[in-house]
Order: sequence, then C-alpha cells, then structure tokens
Amino acid sequence: MRDSLPRESARLSRVESVFKDVFQKYSYEEVRIPVLESKELFYHGLGETSDAVGKEMYSFVDRDGRELALRPEGTASVVRALIQNNLCYNDRPRLWYEGPMFRHERPQAGRYRQFQQLGVEAFGFSEPAIDVEVIQIGNEVFSQLGLSSLITLKINSIGSAEARAQYREQLVEALTPLSAELDEDSRKRLQTNPLRILDSKIPRTKELLSEAPQLHDSLGDDAKERFDHVLELLQTAGVEYTLDPYLVRGFDYYTDTVFEWVTDRLGAQDAVCAGGRYDGLVELLGGNPTPGVGFAAGIDRVASLCEQLEEPDYCAADVYLIPMDERHREFVNQVAQHLRFNTDLRIREHIGTGNMKNKMRWADKSRATWAVIVGDTELNERVVTVKWLRSERAQLSTSVENLVNVISENTE
Ligand code: HAM
Repeated sequence: MRDSLPRESARLSRVESVFKDVFQKYSYEEVRIPVLESKELFYHGLGETSDAVGKEMYSFVDRDGRELALRPEGTASVVRALIQNNLCYNDRPRLWYEGPMFRHERPQAGRYRQFQQLGVEAFGFSEPAIDVEVIQIGNEVFSQLGLSSLITLKINSIGSAEARAQYREQLVEALTPLSAELDEDSRKRLQTNPLRILDSKIPRTKELLSEAPQLHDSLGDDAKERFDHVLELLQTAGVEYTLDPYLVRGFDYYTDTVFEWVTDRLGAQDAVCAGGRYDGLVELLGGNPTPGVGFAAGIDRVASLCEQLEEPDYCAADVYLIPMDERHREFVNQVAQHLRFNTDLRIREHIGTGNMKNKMRWADKSRATWAVIVGDTELNERVVTVKWLRSERAQLSTSVENLVNVISENTE
C-alpha cells in the first residue's frame, strides 16, 4: 500500500472536489460506509468467481470469531446499508460515497492494493432515464476536469441473469473444442467465469470470439428494447459513446446496461470509471426487490490522467512570511493572521533560524509568489516589504492594511 505525497494529494483532492460538486448539482446525497464488512457480503453479492473476491480479498477472523473483509468495492456495502436502514421501501435514494477500497492485486502503475473510489448508486428506478443520468454525471465530471479528449465511454447491455446463463452455456460449448487455441487466462476462465473471456485482449482469442455466438443475440426483446432506449436518450443528451459488444464486468451483480470510461494513456490499467445496472442485488442481499444503477471512479487513475494535462505549477503556499529575527515574530504573525482571514491565499510563516539567504531559499522552495519580510525598519514603521519571487518586479514597502490590495492587484 502506498502513500500519497503532497503534490499527488493536492491533485487527488482537486479531482474529488469536482466529483462532489457535480454530485451536489444532481442532488445525490452522501452516505458513509465502513471499511470492514462481513466477508459473506462480498462472497454473496459480488460472486466468488470474481477476481476481487476469489483471489484478492483481504479477509481475516476478528476477536469474536467473525469473518470480516476489507471492502474491495462500495456497491455491496451501500446495498447492505440500504437494507439495514430500511431504505428500500419507496425511498428511491440517489447516493454517493467515497473512500479507500482494498484488493490484493499485483501492484503496478495505476493498480494498487489500496485505492480511492468515488461512486454513485441510484435505487428504485428501472427507467432507462436513470442509467443516462448516472452516465451524465460521470461525463460532466470528466468534462469539467478537461479529460473528455483523453477518455472514451464504452457501453453494452448484458441482459438479464437468465439470458446470460444461457449465453454462458453457448459460449462454453463453442469455445471448449478450441480451448487449446485460447490464451492461458481464457482457458482457465472457461472453467470458472467464461463471460470474462470476452474481456480478453489477446488477438487470437478475440478472433475466436468473433466467430463464437454473440451475447447480444441472447438478449430478450425487452432487454434489447430497453438498451436501444438508453442509447437514444444518451444521443439526445449529447453524450458520446462507443458500443462495445464484448464489454462485460467483473462482478456477478450486473444486469442490462454496463459501461466503462477507458483511456489509452495509462498503459494496461485502462478503466478510470466503471459501472452499470444491478437489478437483482438488493433482493439477493435480503432486501425488498429494488433496481439499482451506479458507477465508481478510480480516483488515483483519474488524477494520473490529470497529471498529463497542463497543470498549474504546484505550490504549497502563496505568501511566505519572513521575520528577520525572532524580535519580528509577533508582528509577522499578526500580518499572517490578517492575510489568512482577509484573502483566500495560503499563508506560510517561516519558522527556524538561519540567515536571510537561507530563509529566502525556504520561500523559494514553497513555490510562493510573494515573500513578505519584516525587519527592524518595517517593525518601527508598521509596514512590510513585499518581494515578487516569480517575476522581475521591484520589491516595495506597504502598510499591512494595503498589503491585501498590493497582492490582489497582482493576482488579477
Ligand atoms: P470496478 O470496475 O471494480 O467497479 O472499479 C471501478 C474503478 O475503480 C475502476 O474502473 C478503476 O478505475 C478503479 N480501480 C479498480 N481496481 C483498482 C486498483 N487495484 N487500483 C486502482 N484503481 C482501481 C466497482 O468497483 C463497482 N462497485 C462499480 C459500480 C458502482 N457498479 C455499480 N455501482
């Protein structure tokens, strides 16, 4: 598990705040869910053949002998919360959540054992309009982050659980005689989770798949009609998408619409956000039958994409205040407080000894735009000296009251 240092954390926070602003605009409400759940919730909810449960779950027995797991994702927890708090009886909540998720994967760039997700889940609506609303939320976020040109929305319908079971049989029947030609992973999946073979990126496997029965042909008329309606609404809403008949998702709970935003800028870890409809999950976990749809974005990956854009130069502070020596500390602190509570700027006071050259080095390291310096002359006259650290502008002396004006003039 890794640490996020300040530069990366600042990027993560910015991404998170854009997501949260958009959730608010769509009037989704926050729900906070625990990091630990019973292991059974994920076995039952996600399916034990999914990698996240079967191979990657962090689970342990607690002091009371209960089998617990660090959550690998948020949807099952949100559904558990919904059922436990009696919210699946006509409440139709539209919710968002955030937090760390845990999967014991082989770590590599963009794939971590602890990663951050932000997700939405809307319950109680079977109408295609809600699928489109959820997708619109994701699209809006990516557009506000300036990422639209770096990502593609892929979409598919995987139909009902029954249609899928039928298709699974057809697929196994078609691929079993060819299993020697499949890649190793797909050969294993033929036994455990055949639909995941559709995910394969290996050219020969893809070729074999193109000649095998197609999932779309197994969908019932209702499912096809519903999906057409979703696509129509997406078009009306101006949401661009790519139909991907081979898109399937890693958990058992999905039904009908599934989608992923992918990028070719992050190497093998191409999905930055993914989700879909899961109409049977609430009932499966013991609640009143309630349809659901949602997505979760991998914030670490979204932030890595943002890093590839022109980013503002990272700085820890805007103004760096320097007392020449400790006799000037009290006045410097007063000036700092004045700036903190009269501007939106980030103010850092120099603490520590050292000569002026050394202090200016610290100012530079903070990437601040201004250094504000107080020595004997300034203290006597109740003024400060302002130095521009990133331009050639000449330093000047100003009263504390006028300091905000001097700085804001420069900001515009
Ligand atoms: P997921 O596809 O497993 O879906 O994860 C969603 C996103 O989390 C991925 O697209 C990816 O960006 C990020 N992610 C997953 N694993 C890792 C990892 N090891 N390191 C970094 N990022 C990762 C879900 O979790 C579903 N609960 C989504 C959902 C919500 N479906 C309906 N509602």
